[in-house]
Amino acid sequence: MTTLGTPLSPHATRVMLLGSGELGREVLIALQRLGVETIAVDRYDNAPGHQVAHRAHTVSMTDPEQLRALVEAEKPDLVVPEIEAIATPVLEALESEGVVRVIPTARAARLTMDREGIRRLAAETLGLPTSPYRFCDSLDELRTAAGEVGYPCVVKPVMSSSGKGQSKIDGPDGVVAAWDYAMSGSRVAGARIIVEGFVDFDYEITLLTVRARGAGDEIATHFCEPIGHRQVSGDYVESWQPHPMPAVALDRAQQIARAVTGDLGGQGIFGVELFVKGDQVWFSEVSPRPHDTGMVTMATQWQNEFELHARAILGLPVDTTLKSPGASAVIYGGVDAEGVVFDGVDAALRVPHSDIRLFGKPESFVSRRMGVALAHADDVDTARRNATEAASRVTPRAV
Ligand SMILES: Nc1ncnc2c1ncn2[C@@H]1O[C@H](COP(=O)(O)OP(=O)(O)O)[C@@H](O)[C@H]1O
Ligand SMILES: [Mg+2]
Repeated sequence: MTTLGTPLSPHATRVMLLGSGELGREVLIALQRLGVETIAVDRYDNAPGHQVAHRAHTVSMTDPEQLRALVEAEKPDLVVPEIEAIATPVLEALESEGVVRVIPTARAARLTMDREGIRRLAAETLGLPTSPYRFCDSLDELRTAAGEVGYPCVVKPVMSSSGKGQSKIDGPDGVVAAWDYAMSGSRVAGARIIVEGFVDFDYEITLLTVRARGAGDEIATHFCEPIGHRQVSGDYVESWQPHPMPAVALDRAQQIARAVTGDLGGQGIFGVELFVKGDQVWFSEVSPRPHDTGMVTMATQWQNEFELHARAILGLPVDTTLKSPGASAVIYGGVDAEGVVFDGVDAALRVPHSDIRLFGKPESFVSRRMGVALAHADDVDTARRNATEAASRVTPRAV
């Protein structure tokens, strides 16, 4: 049996989000709808999730001392990582001391914060199909490794996200530039890189996979319909659901997702990223949390990915069924400025069956994600057209 408390009372159920961007904000709202007391943490003031939580804190989550002090002061029942850049050894220590439960597990947060941990687990421990890869610590090692995995190949810092420091090499002449670019885009100075063989996929999907209570007390694995998406420079531009797939490929995708999320364990939603070509499926990476491309589920599912996460982590049952085909399209800042205003929201909402979310980020950058347009329709093509049209009608402006 699951018992939930009353917020701001001695018997509150308390959840702390580590990272409070647009995805965290929606998780916080979903938790509040279940009467959970919420604590939002981010590295800058007035982050999107800070604006909707019961309490907000600004700390450096990569600093082990600051992180431990905050968790011990707030004493949440659950700690929910929303980003990768966290001092995960502290989470492992706090979890093993029985101070908090980490979602889905502290080990999952550690393994997925760096591309090496999760890639070795998927390919070497679980034997899942992935692109060929090597890890390198120097330009010389990269030269050799690129030749071994073959061209074209993709170079990424092991500690990076959203395409930062990531580039494709077409031949030996491109090795130096890729190395320099990776060094500039890593979260940590002088860290390793991964070089992966380029997979010439037909399409890529995110398979949202939920580990939640089944009919009894056991944890069951639930799958959402596949989400198709388009990435530009390693960053998602639009997504849609469902993405049609042959039965054999979908079955393989689900087997891969079940294996990797089963090993990571715990409860919650995972965004499993997969490449597909015909009936062939490759594991790419996994986020043990809601996924940016999954924002489309705010238009397409009875329970969106944030509601699914909230329910799963609280030990409640989930429903992953699709309500309607739909799409999402990102609204970028377009300007570098603080406190921007958004023109054209009315025009955007005149697009049939559309909706928008503005994230309330205090500062805009040209390529920062400031909002998202959503649309549902009888078919994915119409939804994609409408979401993109709605997004294009919203214009952030410096004042
Ligand atoms: N080995 C690869 N072959 C082909 N495309 C790739 C490969 N690795 C990454 N990509 C492309 O780059 C995107 C971002 O890479 P990913 O590893 O997911 O990095 P991030 O952690 O920044 O999301 C992928 O969604 C895919 O479109
Ligand atoms: Mg990715």
